[in-house]
Amino acid sequence: MSLLDAYEKTKQELTVTPEKLTEITNHFVSELNKGLSKTGGNIPMIPGWVMDYPTGQETGDYLAIDLGGTNLRVVKVSLLGDSKFTYEAEKYPIPVPMRTGKSEDLWNFIADSLDTFVKKHYGSRGSSMAKLPLGFTFSYPASQDAINEGVLQRWTKGFDIDGVEGENVVPLLQDAINVRNTPVEVVSLINDTTGTLVASKYCDPETIMGLIFGTGCNGAYYDVCNDIPKLEGRLPDDLLKENSPMAINCEYGAFDNEWAVLPRTKYDIQIDQESPRPGQQYYEKMIAGYYLGEVLRLILLDYYSQDLIFKDQNIKPLQVPFAMDTSFPSRIEQHSATFVEGLFLDSFNIKTTEEERNIIHDLCLLIGTRSARLSVCGIAAICKKRNYKAGHCASDGSVFNMYPHFKERAHEALNDIFQWNCDPKDYPITLIHAEDGSGVGAAVIACLTEKRLLANKSVGTIESKL
Ligand code: BGC
Repeated sequence: MSLLDAYEKTKQELTVTPEKLTEITNHFVSELNKGLSKTGGNIPMIPGWVMDYPTGQETGDYLAIDLGGTNLRVVKVSLLGDSKFTYEAEKYPIPVPMRTGKSEDLWNFIADSLDTFVKKHYGSRGSSMAKLPLGFTFSYPASQDAINEGVLQRWTKGFDIDGVEGENVVPLLQDAINVRNTPVEVVSLINDTTGTLVASKYCDPETIMGLIFGTGCNGAYYDVCNDIPKLEGRLPDDLLKENSPMAINCEYGAFDNEWAVLPRTKYDIQIDQESPRPGQQYYEKMIAGYYLGEVLRLILLDYYSQDLIFKDQNIKPLQVPFAMDTSFPSRIEQHSATFVEGLFLDSFNIKTTEEERNIIHDLCLLIGTRSARLSVCGIAAICKKRNYKAGHCASDGSVFNMYPHFKERAHEALNDIFQWNCDPKDYPITLIHAEDGSGVGAAVIACLTEKRLLANKSVGTIESKL
């Protein structure tokens, strides 16, 4: 077999046809419903205890933190009403060994960063002032029975810290904050997708969902309590009577963990098997930023093992797991094939022929296209489930923001599923760049929660474990 033959085979495996997209979407709809049922399913479909739509008129000052896959972000937000806001934010990169380190190191790191931020942005008033309400954006699957708690179901995105799964993370963080006497109280815990949904709806009433295409992938939307069978018998009367809206954090990175429909390749299977949590997040492992560089690396290693590429060269640096992050395929696609020459030489000391460079470039195109096309199955499924015919899908995350052509490819795939057959600028369902979910979303949610509490309305039940 020649390198070109091998590439053609890979191309077939990575191509997702319109028919396959439709098949996946239909299965996705039934899995979303299953997740809301009393018995549950692969997709957790976690009620997020945000039970109001923002109006854009919310006001107040709030503090928020976002523990993502790569950075910790601390944000001071002022909601000004009229869909307006201002904010100041700082980013603290999460040290790589911390992802698999000790629980206390993680909480100490967050509390230290928060303390530094409060001192810098609130000055010496810090320790004597009334406690600042904090919205905690925790971008991992956490079961919630109330807005101010979250029990980690399992780590994702390569995190693997002992002693946190099965625990409520709010007191873990609050204790570390208290040790430092930082005047901060965690009042709400939200997922990044729920934050994105609410922040974008604060600014744009046409928002129908909040999505993250970043290190991990996930989506949130509003359902109504009476259509969520697993809430039956576990809800305060006021919510049922009102048929209250309820934000759902789908956690759909776990879609198809039983592998009924996804076109997984041997590379996806290897990524899963070598991950800290095999058998979980099958969908996420095919499309999210944490994995796209790894797919490319595994394909190249496969070709090398068949003596088709990098002949007679020492490729040790490329044999290190995750030696290529997603910026590799993303940058390669952004440039022409000649860019590959310098990149492989500088990063791995590997020389490439012109044919190899062209093929590597085209592989990146296939990997990015597959990611974008599969990504929209979650969107299309929510639209079908809620019967949304039009609206804005507020999207954020490094893949959405940085991977070339992601949005155009996603729109094309949506059209393959819904067959609108009109000019792309007239597509009724579109992905738009989200407002700052972890800051503004957390602030709006904290404000909505305060309003409910003042009106003596429920913000969740503590007894039930959903
Ligand atoms: C997590 C979700 C999160 C998504 C995007 C996934 O790995 O399970 O909670 O929303 O990544 O950050």
